[in-house]
Amino acid sequence: MKIAVFAGDGIGPEVTHEAIRVLHALGLNDLELVEGDVGAAAYRKHGHPLPPATLAIAHDCDAILFGSVGDFDCDHLERHLRPEQAILGLRKELGLFANLRPAKVYKGLEDMSTLRPEIARVIDMVIVRESNGDVYFGEKGIRTLPDGRREGYDIMSYAEDEVRRIAHVGFRTAMGRKKQLCSVDKANVLETSQLWRDVVIEVSAEYPEVELSHLYVDNAAMQMVKSPGQFDVIVTGNMFGDILSDQASMCVGSIGLLASATMAEGTKGLFEPIHGSAPDIAGKGIANPMAQILSAAMLLRHSFGKEAEAARIEAAVAKALADGICGGDLGGSHGTAEIGDAVLARL
Ligand code: NAD
Ligand code: IPM
Ligand code: MN
Repeated sequence: MKIAVFAGDGIGPEVTHEAIRVLHALGLNDLELVEGDVGAAAYRKHGHPLPPATLAIAHDCDAILFGSVGDFDCDHLERHLRPEQAILGLRKELGLFANLRPAKVYKGLEDMSTLRPEIARVIDMVIVRESNGDVYFGEKGIRTLPDGRREGYDIMSYAEDEVRRIAHVGFRTAMGRKKQLCSVDKANVLETSQLWRDVVIEVSAEYPEVELSHLYVDNAAMQMVKSPGQFDVIVTGNMFGDILSDQASMCVGSIGLLASATMAEGTKGLFEPIHGSAPDIAGKGIANPMAQILSAAMLLRHSFGKEAEAARIEAAVAKALADGICGGDLGGSHGTAEIGDAVLARL
């Protein structure tokens, strides 16, 4: 089990440290961790947010545990040198196109949600977010028009094969759950979304057992806080999935709780919390490491088929939460290391 560890910036190293402690505690005897620099930390050391040596480690490993990247001091840099290019570059270079973001309320923990408990109680969804295309990776720039005004532009596009492969992931994920798939788009306005919808409908013919529905993204955002329990699996594009998953995190209780897996065609995957480097709390020892600990669980499940170990980690996190262990993001006062200790004790 060769795992690349790219801790990155801000709270990335803080939360990753706790996840590594949890991985070690499982006593897996063939665990090999290889560290690499990413983000602003890598830019400062090597002049690039995703240096060739880091990319080589990523190619060589079976899975990647990724912290977070981002540093406001780097926001003036040319786009290709910004910290965020590390995660975007890894997703693209390794063909990591299927970003799975589960959002589930644990039994008895519905009070953590910012929604009313009776609404939050039934939340159990997976957002399947495409992560290799969309407006993220199209031609972009800031140009000067003939009359001297500046204009920013980002081209949004999806090729049919890109939609087809993520649609298959959506349908397969639904087949393993309640067999309900909701495709989210903006087909009433965008041609990219019209093709998305057409292709999802074509693929649905191969999954007659799955009940397919469609929502426009604005309505989906509203439905997610109105009755989030209606969602089983959501499949959507890169940008809509980015936004909806942050929203889903608060339906559960905190962005510090949501883990993610980003898979390529095989078992190779990148595992990271959905949150960023949180510069406002970095260095204070108060970040919630649970999202990253749960990402380590997803890594064991999705890249190595270690379901029992993954479930053990998830149960330990749920138990810690049930015992009232939580940080400031959930109204508590436990620090990052204390939360790590609490999860380890329950493991
Ligand atoms: P963010 O997710 O970093 O933080 C949003 C808010 O949530 C902040 O108030 C933060 O303190 C809080 N928060 C986030 N994670 C938390 C945790 N584990 N425990 C407690 N509180 C937590 O989003 P942002 O502030 O918009 O972005 C900050 C930087 O991170 C930017 O540079 C952005 O580009 C980057 N970013 C990176 C990733 C990634 O590496 N995958 C993801 C999102 C944002
Ligand atoms: C995420 C982040 C990234 C994204 C940024 C940092 C590029 O917000 O993983 O959710 O937009 O994909
Ligand atoms: Mn995001």
